[in-house]
Amino acid sequence: MLALGGCLLLAACNPAVPDDKNPSSGSAYYTEPHRPQLHFTPDSMWMNDPNGMVYYDGEYHLFYQYYPDSTVWGPMHWGHAVSRDLVRWEHLPIALYPDSLGLIFSGSAVVDWNNTSGFGQNGQPPMIAIFTQHLMAGEKAGRNDFQYQSIAYSNDRGRTWTKYEGNPVIPNPGLRDFRDPKVTWDAGSNQWIMVFAVRDHATFYSSKDLKHWEHLSDFGQEWGSHGGVWECPDFFPVKVEGSGVQKWVLLQSINPGAYNGGSGTQYFVGDFDGRKFTLDPGFAPAVRPYSSGVEQAVWLDYGRDNYAGVTWSDIPPSDGRRIFIGWMSNWDYAQSVPTGVWRSASTLPRSLTLRETPEGLRLAAQPVKELESLRKAEKVFDIGSLEDEKELTADLGFPVGPMEIACDFQLSNGSRPAFSLVLSNSKGEIYRIGYDGTKNAWFSDRRLAGDTEFSSNFAQAVHYAPAPDIRENQSMRVFFDVSSAELFAADGRINLTDLFFPTEDFNRLTVVCKGGEVENLRVTCYQLDPIW
Ligand code: FRU
Repeated sequence: MLALGGCLLLAACNPAVPDDKNPSSGSAYYTEPHRPQLHFTPDSMWMNDPNGMVYYDGEYHLFYQYYPDSTVWGPMHWGHAVSRDLVRWEHLPIALYPDSLGLIFSGSAVVDWNNTSGFGQNGQPPMIAIFTQHLMAGEKAGRNDFQYQSIAYSNDRGRTWTKYEGNPVIPNPGLRDFRDPKVTWDAGSNQWIMVFAVRDHATFYSSKDLKHWEHLSDFGQEWGSHGGVWECPDFFPVKVEGSGVQKWVLLQSINPGAYNGGSGTQYFVGDFDGRKFTLDPGFAPAVRPYSSGVEQAVWLDYGRDNYAGVTWSDIPPSDGRRIFIGWMSNWDYAQSVPTGVWRSASTLPRSLTLRETPEGLRLAAQPVKELESLRKAEKVFDIGSLEDEKELTADLGFPVGPMEIACDFQLSNGSRPAFSLVLSNSKGEIYRIGYDGTKNAWFSDRRLAGDTEFSSNFAQAVHYAPAPDIRENQSMRVFFDVSSAELFAADGRINLTDLFFPTEDFNRLTVVCKGGEVENLRVTCYQLDPIW
């Protein structure tokens, strides 16, 4: 009933908004308070997880969990946008609507290059979307089997989709929390691999044609963090930086139970033999058996606002990157953040690499290089040593706003100061992000950064990210948008993504050093163009 009602209503409120309101048409749309200028947002209404990220024929597709009738979560559809550069996005009509099998929950998409599914037409490979359907009626009736995996195909570059008549392709054996399929082609075993989350573990299936699936194995009941439900896994091969050695990475979102609370993403590194994922022996100690009673996990991002992120499928080998986007929010408060006609943004796209470190194999993430195309004005401050604070606002040469700021500095003679970039406004609202030498940790502090009242859970604490090692030479790069900051430090090993909601836009920028001094401080600031 609910699903059907949603469908009928939707015909009237398709998000393919009239052209004068379409942000990609360059109007003054998209300038509401808190509206991100560097990040993807739906033009209106509710969004959560990124879905179906696939590259095809010059376009990066971004589908997303979307409820077109409200700014809070509701019956899920797949919203749709495309980009040619990962930076500027064009909104497209809703791709998948709920049907009699249920709502359209999270999932993935692939290009079926060899037409293994038989859905191709005129010699062109079809695009296949693989997603969970969630049957509200089943859930309401107290059943356990209300989530299952379905597929749909497109023969017109993702513009229209046909659901497979044999859905679901993986029925539910009676397990609650049975969702979020991510499919990848495994050249090693010559088959499609699907991973999805089943409450407290990831499960692996294989297929030759994307329609018939066989259960292979399970992973994770005894590893990593189990403070909440496992959701939205991703599973992909990646070569260790500087070597030809291939490993597999399992990204595994969890809610709640993240490092700084609520929703977050842990990951595992190992090998895959076509049936089973086995932890790399050097990685295993960091995610030691959960049954030992002590939780231990390795986190992708230490901020509170990067969840359910996955990577693009079918990036051409000539490019070779593993590009990630997450949902820039947290279930702890996502539905009450003080935005207007829309709720939620995606993180910036990041390129993930796998690196051999003294602690074992670890992911590093950096913002994709395409973001450099947003750089407008540039100002370099060669500050040298700093022991107190220095306001940069007047000398910037452009107004404080969406910016990229890189800081390089040295900690000499055992000095352990707290160094931060500080945004503030005339109302005395302050956001701080930087490195705390006494803790050897990176941090983000939004406790005084504006509106925090909408949730008691939003701003109780400073969010710390333990540095992987002690370094004399430090560098950090931060992307500030109207209502978020993303930190990349320790050569990409540390990521920290946090939202904030100043009640007046921040208009002052200060560098602050407390409890010691930093030397050779150089701050490079770029004014960034809006993406819309
Ligand atoms: C994660 C999640 C997924 C689910 C979707 C529903 O944020 O809970 O597990 O598929 O959102 O919108």
